Amino acid sequence: MIAVKELTKRYARTVAVDQISFSVEKGQIVGFLGPNGAGKTTTMRVLTCFLPPSAGTATVAGFDVLEQPREVKRRIGYLPEAPPLYPEMATTEYLRFVGKLKGLSGAELDKRVDYVCGRCFISDVKRKLLGKLSKGYRQRVGLAQAIIHNPEVLILDEPTAGLDPKQINETRDLIRSLAGDHTIILSTHILPEVEQTCEQVIIINKGKLVATDSVHNLQARTRGVESVLIEVAGRAGALASEAVQQKLEQVPGVAKVVRRDARDQRLIFEVESQKGQLVRGDLARAVVASGWDLNELRAAGMSLEEIFLELTGSETAAEARDRAEQPAKPDETTPTTSEPQP
Ligand SMILES: Nc1ncnc2c1ncn2[C@@H]1O[C@H](COP(=O)(O)OP(=O)(O)O)[C@@H](O)[C@H]1O
Ligand SMILES: [Mg+2]
Repeated sequence: MIAVKELTKRYARTVAVDQISFSVEKGQIVGFLGPNGAGKTTTMRVLTCFLPPSAGTATVAGFDVLEQPREVKRRIGYLPEAPPLYPEMATTEYLRFVGKLKGLSGAELDKRVDYVCGRCFISDVKRKLLGKLSKGYRQRVGLAQAIIHNPEVLILDEPTAGLDPKQINETRDLIRSLAGDHTIILSTHILPEVEQTCEQVIIINKGKLVATDSVHNLQARTRGVESVLIEVAGRAGALASEAVQQKLEQVPGVAKVVRRDARDQRLIFEVESQKGQLVRGDLARAVVASGWDLNELRAAGMSLEEIFLELTGSETAAEARDRAEQPAKPDETTPTTSEPQP
């Protein structure tokens, strides 16, 4: 349904999207995952014909975004990052306006407006001004305008950003319910969103594709590998880091040993096992048999979050854990650009 080949988009100085290729099958619901600035919005704007690609191609239902934009737009519903909801318009007035732009009229337009209001749970605010709606309602009106012309493909840019947890759940349910009728790409910088809503995931970082897989397979990558944090202390005198590392590396089933920290007489390593190997017992015995103290040994199984962080190279799994134990930093803000009109 969607085919992107070596797509590149440059702004004046930035390469926002760098030769990415992926495809989306009909009926799939795909998560487009990446940190802020990864190039998600840019890719979506190219797919929706609001920006021309600098190189490469993108087709929707076989139509090229550059050569047949009208055909593409007819088949796409787009929920931009900040949907252009005119505050002085009432809900149905706005939906009728967008519907007309999409070529609907007469009884068909009436029917579609009624249908999307029911489908997106906004029937009770039909006559309310958009400027007076809560963020959750506004987002549902945004979804309603995206599906007004019953497009085959839905492109949703961070559809749950800025919503509270209850609204997030409602929006996710709504998106999942739309998946039966539409092929959906939704972008997000939050991983649980993908785990809970999508079947496929496309991970991008700094404009480059880093992984594309089923959510199931990606999760499976986390299974079977044991990751262990181990703290070793010397009883007297200095403890040679290299000696300890070597010892740990010699334990059967160990794939990788990385020194994480060294303080006073303590050394902290992260040990990763080979697939299917449990190494904790042998690690403990090796440390003790060498005459060192085993201060701590704890499993640090890789979560999908850590895999994501590893793939996007933003930090190591161990750093992610350390960070997780500290209060979260506020999100970096992306530059806001004005959204195209529907
Ligand atoms: N209109 C623009 N002009 C110049 N640079 C831009 C513009 N829009 C986005 N960028 C840059 O392109 C990169 C990708 O941005 P964007 O596609 O918005 O990422 P995301 O949606 O994943 O956060 C960023 O480095 C961003 O600063
Ligand atoms: Mg964005």
